[in-house]
Amino acid sequence: MAKVDSYTSTAKWLHWGMALLWLGAWCIGMLATHWREELNAQHELTFLHKAMASTLLFLVVARIAWRLTHPAPALPKKMSLTMKRGALVGHILLYVVALVGLPVSGWYWSSVADKQIMVAGLFVLPPLVAPDKDLYDLAKWVHTYTAWLCGALVGGHVLVALKHHFIDGDDVLTGMLPGNDARKA
Ligand code: HEM
Ligand code: HEM
Repeated sequence: MAKVDSYTSTAKWLHWGMALLWLGAWCIGMLATHWREELNAQHELTFLHKAMASTLLFLVVARIAWRLTHPAPALPKKMSLTMKRGALVGHILLYVVALVGLPVSGWYWSSVADKQIMVAGLFVLPPLVAPDKDLYDLAKWVHTYTAWLCGALVGGHVLVALKHHFIDGDDVLTGMLPGNDARKA
């Protein structure tokens, strides 16, 4: 595939749109569970969490298809090979665990619990598997701990992006912003 020196504007829209949805869904999931009596007495936050998070299942298909046909720009030349490999592994983990695995685990949990998911509040997502009370605790455990793991993964991703900008002084962070069309170094 041809080398490119910037992300396409579609890739940037998908990155920031999904980042907002993801971070919003993560915070609402936490509030729904840990502030249940104060904020989620009628399951309104649970509904919102599921409505937002389930849209990621569709967006991620479009995003991966776009990414497979539109390569990312090369990382700055001054980065070591180890750092470049680390970035690649980190991005693959974000795709596989945070953007595919976590929503699928939520879909699985709601399916075994026999609870509906309204995608964006608009239509019902068909269940992934048949209801099964015996699998409820396992599904809850997997979704909860994957969510915590992903919180750490995304937190690390954001810190690394800030390090590139403020410590290394390169254009990795600005390269993901609108209107920055060529990676220089
Ligand atoms: C189809 C997608 C998803 C469904 C159906 C779903 C479902 C759920 C449900 C039912 C809860 C428990 C809420 C409650 O007890 O009131 C929950 C908790 C949570 N979810 Fe999701 N989820 C999905 C995707 C996601 C995604 C993409 C994220 C991250 C952005 C996420 C992060 C969380 C977090 C952080 C919690 C709280 C964990 C804790 O108890 O500490 N979920 N989810
Ligand atoms: C304030 C929050 C965020 C910042 C500052 C940020 C920053 C960045 C930057 C600068 C890049 C480009 C890296 C490069 O050029 O190699 C990037 C890529 C990426 N980000 Fe984020 N990000 C944020 C949130 C998120 C979230 C919440 C997710 C997903 C859960 C995410 C997933 C990804 C993925 C998968 C890539 C790789 C894109 C590709 O090359 O295909 N980001 N991010």
